[in-house]
This record gives sequence, structure tokens and C-alpha cells, in this order.
Amino acid sequence: MAAQTEVNLLNKKQATVELGRLAKIMAQADIAYHQNDAPEISDAEYDALKQRNLEIEARFPDVKRGDSPSNTVGAPVSSGFSKVKHAVAMMSLGNAFTDEDVTEFDVRIRKFLNLPHDQPLEYTAEPKIDGLSLSLRYVDGNLVQAATRGDGEVGENVTANALTLRDIPATITGAPDILEVRGEVYMSHADFAALNENQISNDAKPFANPRNAAAGSLRQLDSEITKSRPLHFFAYALGEVSEVFSDTQSGIIERLAGFGFSTNPLIKKFETPAEMLEHYSNIERDRANLGYDIDGVVYKVNDLALQSRLGFRTNTPRWAIAHKFPAELAQTIIEDIEIQVGRTGALSPVARLKPITVGGVVVSNATLHNEDYIAGRDSFGNPIREGRDIRVGDWVTVYRAGDVIPKIKDVDISRRKTGSHPYVFPDVCPECGSASIREEGEAVARCSGGLICPAQAVEKLKHFVSKAAFDIDGLGAKQVETFYRDGWVKTPADIFTLNERIGAGNLQLLKNFDGWGDKSAQKLFDAIEAKKDIPLNRLIFALGIRHVGESSAMTLARHYGAWQVFNSAMENARDHIGPDWETLNAIDGVGSVLAAA
Ligand code: IVH
Repeated sequence: MAAQTEVNLLNKKQATVELGRLAKIMAQADIAYHQNDAPEISDAEYDALKQRNLEIEARFPDVKRGDSPSNTVGAPVSSGFSKVKHAVAMMSLGNAFTDEDVTEFDVRIRKFLNLPHDQPLEYTAEPKIDGLSLSLRYVDGNLVQAATRGDGEVGENVTANALTLRDIPATITGAPDILEVRGEVYMSHADFAALNENQISNDAKPFANPRNAAAGSLRQLDSEITKSRPLHFFAYALGEVSEVFSDTQSGIIERLAGFGFSTNPLIKKFETPAEMLEHYSNIERDRANLGYDIDGVVYKVNDLALQSRLGFRTNTPRWAIAHKFPAELAQTIIEDIEIQVGRTGALSPVARLKPITVGGVVVSNATLHNEDYIAGRDSFGNPIREGRDIRVGDWVTVYRAGDVIPKIKDVDISRRKTGSHPYVFPDVCPECGSASIREEGEAVARCSGGLICPAQAVEKLKHFVSKAAFDIDGLGAKQVETFYRDGWVKTPADIFTLNERIGAGNLQLLKNFDGWGDKSAQKLFDAIEAKKDIPLNRLIFALGIRHVGESSAMTLARHYGAWQVFNSAMENARDHIGPDWETLNAIDGVGSVLAAA
């Protein structure tokens, strides 16, 4: 990430701009994580942004935004499921990163309650399960509703799916008339590995981590799919209850276990921050052997009467805090730097690492972002890693914050061999030899070859047939690669003439491809035929125009209504003048960069 100005060096104007920037990045990250189950930044980076936002707001409270990320929990629900308003909001937790943060948590609570430091105060400490939270509503002992957290106020109704989990009883006896049980849905490491193997062999996209696999599996519109996925549930809290259930957090856990819920075996009670910190260290030490992901330890005031005296801040309880584990680090050597060419021609450098285990996962690649990042500067020319560049043969520290692509934290110059050379970023595309061009103000260099470049062409084709675009059954990334390699499909239009060209007479040719038979070939042709008519927004998205994602494709489709109208308006606007250009720029949600693209 770019070098950032210290919060205490910002003036009010800069703080306002910075809060706007943070709100935008975090809103995007929330959607990627909560709605698309596909995180774009690591948890550690997200936490760092959140922390920075809080610090700036604390210094400049009067420029705090109405849409401040510190007021939001998660993201609004996406379409597909009916909505559920939570009877009691589903809150988030404040974070602690250091031992001092935990000690301060205890001091704050004692101060609020007016408790002297020598008076005992009991806390529970329990693992923070890295899954997704779920609220289960039982009325007269029957599970009537299961809802995801959503934005904390309104979640998604996933009742049918929740009922397929073995850890979630459909009925319980002896419970209050109304009982909401809250907890975490998660997937074990072993089940995650098996599921991903299966995804890969079915040519489906593997999940980034067990949490995304759990979220993606629970949020299926077809509950038969959820049923086939090995999901588990730990109960740890309550929502609405019609009568007093217990007077302590530990009592809640015991009673829930009595009803048949799974509860975490590592929940313990403590009286001092020192004991809590010791428990934290033990859990951190053993975390790789637990068999499922946890990302910290949650401390809660055990006494529920004290909890209610302590109450809540905007959306976090004063009586609980999440003590997060630091990102996991490991040292290894960069064996090579390779350039990958993406759909839009972007050249992305990737470090090929001597394989190393980071937090139980073998890592052999790390992203190097772009030319500047390798050279030790950010996109404004400011030094990163104090200006240290990255070279083939270097020792680097890599981290994996429980998810996404591993990253490089730093390079150890003291171990650099004499005679090593700075990495020279290629000025031609390694795939097609066309010039690679880095435009003014851009961080990335791009191959100028367009469809001549095989890497771009294949990536464009993959995008064209992807789920949110043409979504053709039986034509996934693997098939597109084979068809491209064997010359059957070089451009998107070729897909629609496959049947004529291959035809019944030539089916034998197709059969030579792995896995194709008469039936599957016919199915493929039928699936292609069925997609000759698709909604305009999907077609616009499928074109893979830079800056035009699913939502801007929808905006454009709504505005122009029909392909012919869109196409001729774009032809007319191509020189960036005239009424069609003006109209395009005036559409709400279309900026000048998108319009030019
Ligand atoms: S208690 C009022 N206990 O962490 C807050 N949450 O960052 C009640 N989580 O939304 C939450 N393990 O999804 C609690 N043992 C645990 C947890 C836990 C995981 C999740 C939960 C929550 C998030 C907050």
C-alpha cells in the first residue's frame, strides 16, 4: 500500500479528503467481501484502514462523514434472498492488536463501571471463529428463521439452507418461547481442501479461503447445494429472547450446549488481562492444529447485568473486544519474477518463491503489483520499504493474512548476493512481443497487442463466457483455453459459429478433445444457441471494456435500452465530441474515465 501521511501531520482539509478516500476503498472492500464472497484486500489491510479512519475521526470529529465506515457493519444484502430485519441488531466487535490494547480495554470497563482495579471482574475468552455469523430464530422450539448478518440491521433469509447443517437443530425442547441463537458458520481445513479439489476438477473457481467457501456455500439459492457442502456452526451468543436465559456469558454457552448446539471447547473464564493474554498466546500457538480458521480471541465481560450497564457504542459493544492475531509471516527466496498478462493487457509481475509454509498453507507465489512496487516506490514516487527494491535471488518476508494472494512485506538487503541486478521491467509483452505501454499517471504497463496477444485474447474470452456475462453452460475457462489453442475460437463471435463449423460431420474432431462426447457436444451447442439472446447489461459487461464492471454495465444498459442504440451512440461518441459524447458523460454514474474507455 502507498506510504501514508501520519494522522497527526494532516490538516483538516487533508483529513476530509482522506476520510473520503477511506470511505470509498472500504465500501468497495465491503461489497467484495460480504456480497461477492471474493475479498480484494486482506483482513489485515482492512483492519489497518479501519484503524486509520478511526484515528482521523478522533482528531477531526467535525469532518466525520455521514457514510463513515466506522458506522457501518458489513454490506447491504445483495439480491436473491428475501430480507430479514433483525429483532436485535447484529453488532460487530472493536479490535485490539496489542497487549496494551487489552489492558486498556479492562481499564476502560472498570472506569465505566466505577470498579477499583483490585476488585475481581470476570471475563470469558473464546476463539474468534473466521466464518460468517448467522442468527437462528426459534419460536416454541422450532427453527423458523435463519438470517445472515447483512448490514447488521437487515440480513438475508437463508432458513432452508441453515436447516441442512447438522450442527443446527430444527427443533429444541425446553427453550423460551422466543430464542435467537447466534454463532458462526465455518468450514474445516480438511473439508475446504476437498471442496476446492472438487471445484477445480469441475472447472469451477476454487475458493480463496475456508471463510469464503463457507459464505459461498451458505448463500446458495439452491439449498441442495448447501446440503452437499460440509458446513459447521458454533453457537456463542443470543439475539432476542422472551425470558431470562442466563446471568452470564458462560451460562449462555452451557445452556446452548444443553440444547444440542456445538459450542467451542476453548472458551474459558479469567479475571485479569494477564491471564487473558496467556490464554491468547496458547491459542495462537495451537491455532494451526485446530483444524479450522480463527483470527483472534474474543474477550467478553461474563456478567450479563454488567454487560447491559456497559451497553454499546455506535455498533460495537463496550463489554467485548476482538484481540486479532497478527498477519503470519515467513522468509523465503525469490526464484524468479514472471509477468502475467491480464484481460486488459495489464502486465502483472509475480514473484515465484521457493515454497514455504505460512500459517499452515504452502505459498509459492506472491504478487509484486507493478514496476514501481518492485523498484521500492509508490505510485506518487514516495519510497516504500524505505526505497529498497526487489530482485531475483532476494530473501523476502511474505505474509498471508488468512486469505487472498500472499504479499511481500519486506526484503532483506543484508542477505543480497553481490553482483545481483535490479529487476528490469520488460518494455515488450512477454506473450506476444508487442510494445508494453505505461501511460502518464498510470501505475500499470499494458500490452498494446489487443486481440493479437494470445494471453489477452484468452482472458477476454474467459471473461466473455463468465458467470456475470454470457454464462454458457459447458463453456468454462478450461474449454475456452482448449478451443483457443486448437484454433476453433479466436474471438467471441467464433463461439456462435462453432456449431456450423464443427457440425455433425466434424463431431469426431471435437471428440478428440478430452471429455467431449456426442451428448455433451450437443448440449454445448444448445447452450450456445440459448445465449444468442441475453440481457443488454450482460452483453455490455461481456465486452470487457476497462472500468465497465457489472454495475456500470447495468447503468449503460438502462440508459440506452437496446444494443443498436448503445452501439451507434458509442460510434458517434468515439472522437470525444458531439451530443452523444455529452449524453454519455451526463449519465449518473459514468465518469470521464469510463466514458473515454
Ligand atoms: S460475539 C456483539 N464471539 O466476529 C457482538 N463474535 O468482528 C457479538 N465472531 O460479527 C459477537 N467468533 O461474526 C462473537 N466467539 C465469538 C466470535 C464472534 C467470531 C465474529 C462474529 C462477529 C464478528 C465481529
